[in-house]
Amino acid sequence: MLIKRTRASDIPSSEITSETVFHERRTILKAMGLGAVALGTPIVAGATSGERKLYTNEVPLSGPVWLQDKLKTLSPSLYSTAEAATPFEYVSTYNNFYEFGTGKTDPADNSQNFITDPWVVEVAGEAELTGKYNLEDIVNPHTLEERVYRLRCVEAWSMVVPWVGFSLADLLKRFKPNSNAKYVRFETLHDPEQMPAQASRFAAINYPYVEGLRIDEAMNELAFLSVGVYGNAMPNQNGAPIRLIVPWKYGFKSIKSIVKIEFTKRRPKTTWEMSNSREYGFFANVNPDVSHPRWSQARERRLPTSIFRQNYVDTLKFNGYGPQVAHLYQGMDLGRYF
Ligand code: MTE
Repeated sequence: MLIKRTRASDIPSSEITSETVFHERRTILKAMGLGAVALGTPIVAGATSGERKLYTNEVPLSGPVWLQDKLKTLSPSLYSTAEAATPFEYVSTYNNFYEFGTGKTDPADNSQNFITDPWVVEVAGEAELTGKYNLEDIVNPHTLEERVYRLRCVEAWSMVVPWVGFSLADLLKRFKPNSNAKYVRFETLHDPEQMPAQASRFAAINYPYVEGLRIDEAMNELAFLSVGVYGNAMPNQNGAPIRLIVPWKYGFKSIKSIVKIEFTKRRPKTTWEMSNSREYGFFANVNPDVSHPRWSQARERRLPTSIFRQNYVDTLKFNGYGPQVAHLYQGMDLGRYF
């Protein structure tokens, strides 16, 4: 992956001391009851007390009307970390979305006219039900929850993001995958007219952007489809209108602006693996013990940072989600299958 070294100037100085935007929109009482037992190790904020505040960016709800209606019913999830979320200003201006440029602020600068409504997602491959579906039909049967997850980029920075969405497993099961479905392949929109980097002869990677998961990874309780952040619709630069979040893997697995979900027999060829398989593996599990060929993965810069405060934290295996996912890799050599 191309690395743009972060300089303090990447983040406006006015924001370096800004406080976390963390305001109460609604207080949810006793939102959850089930799940705590299944989870084992708690990774939750306020779950046992039965009360947690939702994050908001303090602006009116956006997105299509049907989504705004659903956002009003958002509830906190047991799967959230108790760590404070990275302020919305950083979540929405420090991005990787190469279709809109490789600089960290390019996605926010270049995606504002990106059209995400109407949006169609094709479900294909080894399943009983396949076809093309309006986003509303994809999302509507699901209850939206807010999951505050750590996001660890392979470039060794990280954030804590309050995502809005629903379980990937719950969606996949609706299409009744058959026994040939060993993997799930995801594809981002290919539209060079809207995504300037896709039109470039000097594109950093091949498009469309493709990602994939083994079916048991995709069915894990932590795999999440997200349609928003901070209680609101997904900003274009973060992968509107729908993206994947796989919190125990490096951020490049969390593919944005998905138009196709396919159940496959064979392991899909994924964008970064195809671009440089020595540096980026298919599994891409966060692992402080397996260095990237060009840099250590032992620690990460937790945003927000400044020249005076790099805010390094130790990187955790599986990004700290080992209790929920380590069993998926039992007996696997994680140095080989990185
Ligand atoms: N999805 C697409 N289609 N294109 C991309 O360039 N970048 C990935 C991932 N998903 C990327 C993508 C990388 S490298 C990271 S770290 C995360 O998105 C960043 O998500 P964020 O910008 O919302 O923080």
